[in-house]
Amino acid sequence: MQAMENFIFQNPTRIIFGKGTEAETGRETAKHAKKVLLHFGGGSIRKSGLHDRVCKSLKDAGVGYLELGGVKPNPRLSLVREGIRICRENKLEMIIAVGGGSVIDSAKAIAIGVPHAGDVWDFYLKKIPVTESLPVGVVLTIPAAGSETSNGSVITNEEGWYKKDAGGECMRPKFAIMNPELTFTLPPYQTACGAADIMAHVMERYFTRVPSVDFTDRLCEATLRAIIDNVPVVLAKPDDYAARAEIMWAGTIAHNDLLGTGRIGDWASHMIEHELSGIYDVAHGAGLAVIFPAWMKHVYKNDVARFARFAVNVWGVEPRFDRPERTALEGIRRLKSFFRDIGLPTSLPELGVKDDRLEEMAKKATAAGPLGNFVKLGKDDVVSIYRLAQ
Ligand code: NZQ
Ligand code: ZN
Repeated sequence: MQAMENFIFQNPTRIIFGKGTEAETGRETAKHAKKVLLHFGGGSIRKSGLHDRVCKSLKDAGVGYLELGGVKPNPRLSLVREGIRICRENKLEMIIAVGGGSVIDSAKAIAIGVPHAGDVWDFYLKKIPVTESLPVGVVLTIPAAGSETSNGSVITNEEGWYKKDAGGECMRPKFAIMNPELTFTLPPYQTACGAADIMAHVMERYFTRVPSVDFTDRLCEATLRAIIDNVPVVLAKPDDYAARAEIMWAGTIAHNDLLGTGRIGDWASHMIEHELSGIYDVAHGAGLAVIFPAWMKHVYKNDVARFARFAVNVWGVEPRFDRPERTALEGIRRLKSFFRDIGLPTSLPELGVKDDRLEEMAKKATAAGPLGNFVKLGKDDVVSIYRLAQ
């Protein structure tokens, strides 16, 4: 078919966006539950005072809660199991995630684990589909993973350091509270990692072989430009509300599936990256900053015109109609230098990854079959991409 693919688009997450919106947490939660698990990370929300504000909002709305903090970046299965136990023992009805992708993904895992009699990891091994979940609510503190409206969760199993995803429509959060002011406290590195992940979510969808998807091409290009323009602003001035708001909203749109409508996304770079963050515990966005340009170099010859369009429309490269390949390569170069300019690593050694486990990671990444849709990648391709990233 020479046109967009058939699609269903439904993203039911209620977004409450803007200054002071965390005060709505209790009211939004009370629509779904009376007793909840308040789930959060390593301490940033206590330092910023957000923890107190969320607790007050829950109390004011008459919502009871128990707390489970300590979610680590690349969230661990052991804490998910603990959360499931706490919810079951105390008959908690909903999980409220206050944090970033790691906290939200851990909350989603708990939420699907509670009603399931078997092992929650079976969802991540794709042994069983996800059909039931407790409701999840989100107060987002970092624009990055897009988990605040996505249907997925990514968890790391410490036994073997497997990082895997599970997905199901019932996993989309009931609400996402998004106050850009909450992101003022983000360290520059986390801001940059978030930006790389947001851009990767757009690019995974942008690099498609489906023809005649010009409308969503343009939405993708606009979303990428919003990140490229606004990230340097917040790195220079972390409390620039206008720029933080642009990034936060773009981060959600990048991964709420709108930009993928009618397209077939690629997603190989994400899978190749998950091996890095699973084994080496690097930040997902940093891993993507290293992998994505390498993936591009490996595959661009399969559709030079698309890469040339990316270079021209996203990076403002002067097109060379006689040498489209040169235009395409210049776009990849600009992406890589943007990542470098915002303080991200762009090679595996910078991430602390040596070349002794590349084969093993490539084998793990392709264990269930070839990766990607733009080009199908086998184990040897993945090794080549790791090598291009050195
Ligand atoms: O733990 P705390 O103390 O809160 O610190 C966190 C953490 O160290 C800190 N942070 C967050 N908000 C802050 C803040 N520090 C100061 N001020 C704030 N406002 O940032 C660090 C990173 O947090 P994390 O939640 O790990 O970041 P992110 O949102 O990038 O999430 C990454 C995880 O999401 C997964 C990734 O694989 C990774 O495990 N993904 C989930 C997806 C999904 N569910 O749809 C899709 C993505 O592709 C991605 O794979
Ligand atoms: Zn991602």
